[in-house]
Amino acid sequence: MTSHPARRLTLGALVNGSGAHVAGWRHPDARPDGQLDFAFHADLARALERGRFDALFVADTVAPLQGHQLDSLSRTGRAEHFEPLTLLAALSLVTEHIGLAATATTTYNHPFHIARKVASLDHISGGRAAWNVVTSVVPLEAANLGYDSHLEHELRYRRADEFVQVVKALWDSYDDEAVIRDKEAGRYYDPAGLHTPHHRGEHFAVRGPLNISRPPQGYPVVFQAASSETGKEFAARHGEVLFTAQHELGAAQAFYADIKARAAAHGRAPAHVLVWPGLTPLVAPTETEARRSLAELQDLIHDDVARRLVEDNIGDLDLTGHPVDGPLPDVPATNRGKSRRDPLLKRAHDEKLTIRQLAHRFAAGAAVAGTPEQIADHIETWFHAYAADGFSISFPYLPGPAEDFVDQVVPLLQRRGLLRTEYEGGTLRENLGLPRPVARARHLQETGR
Ligand SMILES: Cc1cc2nc3c(=O)[nH]c(=O)nc-3n(C[C@H](O)[C@H](O)[C@H](O)COP(=O)(O)O)c2cc1C
Repeated sequence: MTSHPARRLTLGALVNGSGAHVAGWRHPDARPDGQLDFAFHADLARALERGRFDALFVADTVAPLQGHQLDSLSRTGRAEHFEPLTLLAALSLVTEHIGLAATATTTYNHPFHIARKVASLDHISGGRAAWNVVTSVVPLEAANLGYDSHLEHELRYRRADEFVQVVKALWDSYDDEAVIRDKEAGRYYDPAGLHTPHHRGEHFAVRGPLNISRPPQGYPVVFQAASSETGKEFAARHGEVLFTAQHELGAAQAFYADIKARAAAHGRAPAHVLVWPGLTPLVAPTETEARRSLAELQDLIHDDVARRLVEDNIGDLDLTGHPVDGPLPDVPATNRGKSRRDPLLKRAHDEKLTIRQLAHRFAAGAAVAGTPEQIADHIETWFHAYAADGFSISFPYLPGPAEDFVDQVVPLLQRRGLLRTEYEGGTLRENLGLPRPVARARHLQETGR
């Protein structure tokens, strides 16, 4: 019988200078100026590394993170943020172990550029890079890149599929040992180890090779966050760390089982597809204080932002003029991401929620307010119930709640034997327990194809 290494909790942190809660930046202790302050990000990354997080993750859209209604945008901290790969390259110099995951869209990028940039980050960071593959959810991105409309959902995923294949072929341009830099013989690389992709497909024509040798991790780790049917199939084929938006244990278990089965159906080891639901911990000495703290944050959501939150998550809906304490009007069909929209609509209808109540539910999202023990219990329960292999932890505002988590929750997780006390590996893959992909040419050789 093959022995399986013990299942171990993995952790990622979603880093967003103004915090995960839409009104977090207004909290008296928040540091919204940290958004564009590199020293702030460096301190945060080092704190997360002290907490033995596997990776920190930077979200991105090719537009302000929260859309197109200037009035409400001006009331959030979402108008500005660093470009992820630029920020992560800088963070790689002030950290040693933590993985660095950058979001880059397959809808508004070209595979050559992404293969090259993510490979560069992997080399610079000594094998700590990850790419969060998204197909974009904000139609405004189309307008910034010269398109009249956002590419249709199915087509976005078809393009994404080909995009990832091209990126991997480019990462495989050189065998691991091909770049020999042999001064004596006058050979920089061994021509036998070069595999030019010569790709011609539905969306891309890319000759190659890539102008950088194979990344230290073979392929930087592929993160993914899809939830629609098409998206889940894509995730099962390509994703290695999957963010999910489930907030209830049962739904999270169902998602977990479903995605592992889909991965197996694609010939992948289920253990090599890690499922990370979101979790936004708000820690306080008592549960009452933690809950009060969350309620105070909710009260900081401006009415315009409440409308905007609902519009943004339901899609193609204009709530201007609708009272926030009134019900949701009829909702038209949309070409936007479906995974957040459908559960929200169902909830609004079943529970007869007002626009404000719906906005508060969305803003609370994956928030768990409680004592350090309660947060650790939540993590342990979900982990042992096969609802999560780890969590994508975001913080309602920064930096306080991140430091509280590292100083108060992490030691409990370590004492319970759930979380590492030291990093085991040199690369992100090693820390996550994911295998290093064999170069495609060698794989074909070994499998005799
Ligand atoms: C934790 C998390 C983080 C995400 N980060 C981004 C992001 O940075 N950029 C982006 O365009 N989409 C992001 N998304 C959206 C997903 O990529 C995906 O489009 C969404 O979950 C809708 O799924 P679907 O495309 O299968 O309908 C994120 C989703 C989750 C749950």
